[in-house]
Amino acid sequence: WTLQSRTLEGLAGYIRDGKAKRVVVMTGAGISTSAGIPDFRSPTTGLYANLARLNLPYAEAVFDISYFRQNPRPFYTLAHELYPGKYRPTITHCFIRLLNDKGLLLKLFTQNIDCLEREAGVPDDKIVEAHGSFARQSCIECKTLYPDDLIRKHIEEMAIPFCQRKSCGGLVKPEIVFFGEQLPAAFFANRGLPAEADLCIVLGTSLTVQPFASLPGFCEEGVPRLLINQEQVGSLGSRPDDVLLLGDCDDGVRKLAKACGWLEELEALWAK
Ligand code: OAD
Repeated sequence: WTLQSRTLEGLAGYIRDGKAKRVVVMTGAGISTSAGIPDFRSPTTGLYANLARLNLPYAEAVFDISYFRQNPRPFYTLAHELYPGKYRPTITHCFIRLLNDKGLLLKLFTQNIDCLEREAGVPDDKIVEAHGSFARQSCIECKTLYPDDLIRKHIEEMAIPFCQRKSCGGLVKPEIVFFGEQLPAAFFANRGLPAEADLCIVLGTSLTVQPFASLPGFCEEGVPRLLINQEQVGSLGSRPDDVLLLGDCDDGVRKLAKACGWLEELEALWAK
C-alpha cells in the first residue's frame, strides 16, 4: 500500500495480496435505493422530501420519540410502506456477504432498518444494527415485547398497536432507534472495532447522524478507507489513504469486485 496505489486498482491489489483480512463496512440507506426503498436525504427522491402528506412539524419528527408519543400515526403510515419482506437485497448487500464468505469481514455497521443485509446472508453476529431494526417490537413505556404476527397485522392495516398488558396500555414501537433514544448496546460494545480494521468501506450514507458518523474516523491513519457513494461525505477524502468511488454503489461494488477477480462469483450470489 503506497502513495501510488491509492486508486481502485491499487486497492484491489491490496485486497488480492491478502492485506485486507479485517474489513469493516459501514452502510446507510443509499445501498437499498436500488431495491426500491427511498433514502432519507436525497433532494427529490428521499423520504424527508416526500413527507408533506403526513403534516409533520419537520421531516425528522416521523422518527422522533417525543413526537411519536403525541402522534404515532405518521410513523405507522411510513412503516406500512417500509415494512421488510417486500424488498430484495441488492448486489451491494451481496458484496458484503461475499466479503464474509471469503473470511474477510470483521464487522458490518449498518444504519438501515430494512434487514436486507441479513436477507443477503450476512450472519447476525457480524452485523451491528446501529439504528435497530424491525426485527422486534416493544412497549415504549414498560418495554414488554409485542408479538411479531400482531405487529405485522397492525402495520398491514395501518392500525396503531398498544401494549398487551392491560395495566400499561403504552404505545408499541418497532425497536428502531428514534431521535431522542439511545443506540443499542451492541453499537457501543463494537464501536472500537474500526481501529482494528485493515480496510474500511463506507457505502450509501450521508454520514450526517451521530454517533454513527464518527465511525470511519476511528480507523487508523494509513489504513485505506474506500467510499462508494453518490457524493463525497464526512471526512472521507481528507486522508491520503482514502479512495473515493463516486456514483452508484451497485456500479461501484461491481467495479471493485471485477478488479479483485470476484465479479462472476458476486453476480452468481446475487442471481440466487
Ligand atoms: P441519507 O439519506 O442521509 O444518505 C444516503 C446517502 O446515500 C446519500 O449520500 C446519497 O447521495 C447516497 N445514495 C443514495 N442512493 C445511492 C446509490 N444508489 N448509490 C450510491 N449512493 C447513493 O441516509 P443515511 O445516511 O442512511 O436514522 O441516514 C442516516 C440516518 O438518518 C438513518 O439511519 C435514519 C435517518 O434519519 C434514524 O431514523 C434514526
